[in-house]
Amino acid sequence: MPDTRQQDGGERPDIRLVAFDDEHEAPFVAMLADPDVTRFTPLPWPVPPGYAKTWRQRYDAHRPARENFAIEDCADGRFLGIAVAPHVDREARTAELGYAVVPEARGRGVAVEALRQLTEWALGLGMRRVFLLISVDNTASKTVARRAGYRFEGVLRQTYSRPGVWEDTESWSYVAPDPVPAPRGGLVR
Ligand SMILES: CC(C)(COP(=O)(O)OP(=O)(O)OC[C@H]1O[C@@H](n2cnc3c(N)ncnc32)[C@H](O)[C@@H]1OP(=O)(O)O)[C@@H](O)C(=O)NCCC(=O)NCCS
Repeated sequence: MPDTRQQDGGERPDIRLVAFDDEHEAPFVAMLADPDVTRFTPLPWPVPPGYAKTWRQRYDAHRPARENFAIEDCADGRFLGIAVAPHVDREARTAELGYAVVPEARGRGVAVEALRQLTEWALGLGMRRVFLLISVDNTASKTVARRAGYRFEGVLRQTYSRPGVWEDTESWSYVAPDPVPAPRGGLVR
């Protein structure tokens, strides 16, 4: 995936993906109170006691078949959200990716940039195909996918998304070298 940071006049937010650590637990749990996170991710609300540790342990126990990153603001290290790979199949060279951004950091391109960096990370592992599963009602996430160069594949009917919830879900994928839109429109490749 080409780096457009120099080409777009600094439009991309200055963020980084880092290993999820102790300091991220409190802002992560706070983010779970957001109704869109509850609605569109399998993360629970209300948050069970000790959930951040449980969530981390599920990733730690299954690495390298899954991976979790915190999104940080490069300027001050502030927690901006999560970027995750809940399923990494190294033999099939296919990975599912996902993301969530804290409400106060939304609307300035953080999710698109995080997904680009997460996609680069996955392609760097040797993945041929990376994909996202997005509720048909999640307009913001579909826009994020499109802006990061993902292509709509189709609708999976009534997939199981979390306990008690089955819903129509869109599949979006990036297969290198799909073209990636530049932040201001047009294509960088
Ligand atoms: C989806 C989510 C990650 C977007 O984060 P974000 O940092 O605000 O996204 P960006 O700023 O990168 O926005 C990307 C695009 O989506 C658009 N967008 C953002 N929120 C939107 C909304 N509520 N409705 C419509 N479009 C929206 C932006 O305008 C932007 O489009 P543009 O580049 O054409 O202007 C965030 O809303 C979130 O965490 N939602 C809850 C968790 C979730 O849904 N995760 C994804 C599960 S599949």
